[in-house]
Parts: sequence; C-alpha cells; structure tokens
Amino acid sequence: MYGYNLPEDFLIGTANSAFQSEGAWDRDGKSESIMDYYAKEYAGKYSPGNVPSKQELKSGRTVPLSMDLPDRGCFFYDNYEEYIEDMQKTGQNTYRLSLAWPRIIPTGTGEVNQKGIDFYNKVINKLLACNITPFVDLYHWDLPMCLMEKGGFANPDFPQWFEAYAKVCFENFGDRVKLWSTFNETYISVFNGYSKGTFPPFLMDMKNALAAGHNVMLAHFRAVRLYRSMNLGGKIGIVNCRSAIAPANIKQDDLKAVQIQSENSFDMWTLPLVEGKYPQFLIDEVPFVGENMPANYQADLDKWFTPMDFLGINYYVAARTQYDTSKPLHSAAAEPFFSAPGQMFTPYPAGLFDVVYYISQKYPSLDIYITENGCALENINDEEAECDDPARIEYLREHLRMVSRLIKCGVKLKGYYYWNDADSYEIQDGYRLRFGMTWVDHKTGRRRWKKSRYYFSEICKNKMVN
Ligand code: FCB
Repeated sequence: MYGYNLPEDFLIGTANSAFQSEGAWDRDGKSESIMDYYAKEYAGKYSPGNVPSKQELKSGRTVPLSMDLPDRGCFFYDNYEEYIEDMQKTGQNTYRLSLAWPRIIPTGTGEVNQKGIDFYNKVINKLLACNITPFVDLYHWDLPMCLMEKGGFANPDFPQWFEAYAKVCFENFGDRVKLWSTFNETYISVFNGYSKGTFPPFLMDMKNALAAGHNVMLAHFRAVRLYRSMNLGGKIGIVNCRSAIAPANIKQDDLKAVQIQSENSFDMWTLPLVEGKYPQFLIDEVPFVGENMPANYQADLDKWFTPMDFLGINYYVAARTQYDTSKPLHSAAAEPFFSAPGQMFTPYPAGLFDVVYYISQKYPSLDIYITENGCALENINDEEAECDDPARIEYLREHLRMVSRLIKCGVKLKGYYYWNDADSYEIQDGYRLRFGMTWVDHKTGRRRWKKSRYYFSEICKNKMVN
C-alpha cells in the first residue's frame, strides 16, 4: 500500500480567528470591531440565503446574511483552557489563532488594554505548556470600528496604525510566538469589504478598494520591517487564499479569464510582497483595475518592499470561469462542475494539489503553510447526527493525502491547519454552518468531539494518513 506519511517535524493542527471563536465581544475593555458593529446593526433583517438586492448594495451599506451575532463564537474566551487541552489530547502540535486588535488597543491607536494582553498571554502560555506551537495572525477580519470611522484600510495613516499595533504584539508576545502572519486573506478583506460590498464595511468603490489594498500591502511591509529590526528570531509571512480555477471551456479566451481571476484574487496580493510589483497583465488587460490603481504605487512598493519568510494558503473551493468583457473583470463565474448538497463548498481535493504546486513553482523562495482548509456542514439541530460526520472524515483523508503527495514532490510545505477547531461564527452564515471538528452547543458552549476529531487525532499522532 502507498504510504501517505507526513514528515516528523510537520506542523499539523487546527485554526480559528479571534472574532469567530472568542465571544466576549464587549468584555474586559474590548471595543467594537467592524464585525460586531455591522452584525448588530443588521442581524435579523435578512434570513440566511436571502441575498440583498443591488439597490441595497448600492446604498453603500448592506447586510450580512446572518441572523446571528458574533457575541459567542465558540466561547473560547471563557473556555480556552479546555479547548487547548482538547488540542493536546488530539495530538496536534500547532494551533493558528488571531489577536483581536480592538481587545488589545480598544481605541485603535494609543493606549493598550492590559486585560487584552493578559488574555492572550494566558492563551499563548497554555498552548506552549501543552507543546502546541502558536501560529498567530495579527489581523483576521476584526478592525476596530473607531478606525473604520476614519476610513479603515483606505485611510493613508492605516500602515502607521497597523505598525504601532504590531509593535505592541511583538513586544508582548514575540518572546514566545515564533510564527507570525500579518493579515488573513487580504483579497477577501479588501475586495469583499471595499469593492463588492458583501462583507463589512460593505463599501462598493473600486478606487477606494485599491487604495485600501495598497495600504494593506504597505502595512504588511512595515510590520515585517519592524519585526526584523526587533531580532525576535521567528518567521513572518501572510495568509492569502486561492481557489482552483478552471476555464469554462478549453479555449484561448477562457484561459485568459483564468489568468485574470488568478491574478486578481491571488497574485495581486502576493506578487508585491515577494517581488515588489503588482501583476502587470491584470493592470494592462483590465481597465477596471488599471484605471483605478493608486497614484505612485510603484514608488511606494520600491520604498517599502521587504521580503517575508512564508506564505499561508487558504484553500476551499474550485471555480470555473469564462471570458466576458461585459463584466468589470472581463470574466464571469460559470456553472460549477458539480455541487455537494448540505455543504457550503464543494470539496475538490485535487485542487489543493494544483493550487499549492502552482504557487510553489511561481514563488519558489517561500515556505508554504496550508493555513485553512475545511468542510462546512449545515447545522441540522441534531447533535448525534452532527457528531457523526463521515463527510468530514473523507474530506480530511483526501486533502491530507494531497498534502503528503505535495511534500513527496518536493514542495516546501511546512504545515496544515484544518478550519476550524470548533463550530464557530461565520461572517455571512452566523451559526448556520458547522466547520468544527469539535461540536459546540451555541447556547451553552457545551463541547463534544465529532468522529472527525478522533480520525484527525490518529493522523496527528502517527503522521500517516490512512
Ligand atoms: C476563510 C476565512 C475564515 C473562515 C473560512 C470559512 O475565508 O479566513 O475566517 O470564515 O473562510
């Protein structure tokens, strides 16, 4: 039998983000994030699946589709010790978490909230006591609302705000945290938030979005530079997402659409960080991008460029695209090849291989981590059925076999994080979807391992995917 083994020093574990897991959104000095604010403003006005109209989108602010508030997450703030003990029992050697900026600096800039620092110190110390390597994101969705009121990412001061926040984090946790990511999914945060109007802050203005995205690139460089200057001896990178993108038909135009989609969603957010430039094909080919680029972008990149150590890749979906010049991006989504009823994303494990292999060839200098990959099953209000999750076991088996193959092919793949550790809150779906390997009662916080967690545990302990 072919052995799908993983290297002994391979990092394997689970992930979650602060706002999706912690709950306690207004406790111990934490201020509101954009996620808390917009969910509160709009929760309940739309039922899941009821997509807001173009009119509503155009009004500037639109709505999350969820009926729920991110006020509980999976109760990680209260139960972090038990969660981390469960991770230890699972046999995982790493956990990816994020820090909530509004918990650490509630006013966005300036005064530090000691209670926020204390909480993350307790979490980090507990992880280390359980031999679990923390992988920490500085930013994963939850901008302090007070900074959004000043334009958020689009404010020219954003890079300085972020650097000051990063400094507080490096100073307080950098002695123990050795794997840092600046941002999670820059493309989704920036485009869904500032151009497509589908995620908070629900804006729709491409010029503003590209300015926001550029500021995020500069903020990343500043944090990397600062981190290097502090000599803390760890590694720093970014987490971006990439779908497997196929042409609707094998013809020249559709292949062009694939390149546009790929550059727009991935290279636009990665190439500047690795080579100090934006993808030229996209800028030249698509006026919607080219004409809206910020002034002097190349001079800024030349000034601030600082290489990073690794790239995190979030992989969930396969998409098909076709060339269509009537669309702003000259490409449109085509009917998917197949779908998986009851699941948010159609699993396509071969796409993980394709995506990571492609990236490893295009960006050979970087170590790679698969920072998210996960299976969302619908909440059916049946604990027994939800804990018996063969679809998730199959998902894990097939994707982790791809991981083993990638490593055998020589890809510098250093880690894998399943999204997510426990059933939590999702931006558009609230508690409607369950991604977790631990089942959570969203009312009481009661936890229970799903069968997939037992299966994952065997993989973590044996470094072998059976
Ligand atoms: C990714 C996010 C993560 C989670 C999953 C389902 O885009 O990084 O926070 O919501 O999708």
